[in-house]
Amino acid sequence: MKDRFSGGYRLGLFITFEGCDGSGKSTQARMLKAYLTEQGHDVVHTREPGGSPGAEEIRGLILNGDMDRWSPETEILLFTAARRDHVERVIRPTLARGGIVICDRFADSTRVYQGVARADLRPVVDQLHELMIGIEPDHTFLLDIDPDESLNRGLQRIGAEERFESFGADLQRAIHAGFSRLEDEFPERVHRVSGEGEIDEVFERVRALADSIISAKSAPTPN
Ligand code: TMP
Repeated sequence: MKDRFSGGYRLGLFITFEGCDGSGKSTQARMLKAYLTEQGHDVVHTREPGGSPGAEEIRGLILNGDMDRWSPETEILLFTAARRDHVERVIRPTLARGGIVICDRFADSTRVYQGVARADLRPVVDQLHELMIGIEPDHTFLLDIDPDESLNRGLQRIGAEERFESFGADLQRAIHAGFSRLEDEFPERVHRVSGEGEIDEVFERVRALADSIISAKSAPTPN
């Protein structure tokens, strides 16, 4: 896979998990890291916003404080700054050495949250992504649960990062619809995985998808 950002070819595999707040993606990402590590792969599990020391500091700026601390435009700049550092220091080096990156959220979250749900700024999100990030995941596991269910689960998790805790039903539905549209926009990369059921049942679906991706990647290519 060509990486426009580095000008080189990527060897590794870049997998992201996306979905509504409370969709279970962080648990599934952790379980997939454990599974693939046990299979002998070099796996880095990381997250956004954050994932590198500098980006984790920016995460604190983005997610803490009053709701009106940042305008939507400033927020996009902060997410993009954090992502650039994370790509430079963690994602690109891991892919370059042939490792697997499993990232909990990436640019699709900005496309959905800042692009359509929390603000209507998709063209700005796309332009900044093109200018400053320039890489896409190879595969995105979209954990899909009913938006009303995700609202309940999200509310149960409320903690210290209060800026994004204003979960309303309309916002959750807009986020859910935004992710569904991404599945239509990037059908080869975005795979919807039902997040309904017990954690182990969901993981069976995640594991089956990961196994098929890895065996397709390892298959010899015809000359
Ligand atoms: P998390 O709860 O999955 O760690 O994500 C923190 C919050 O940040 C979550 O509500 C989604 C939001 N977010 C955005 O709005 N835009 C982004 O680009 C990312 C990565 C997260």
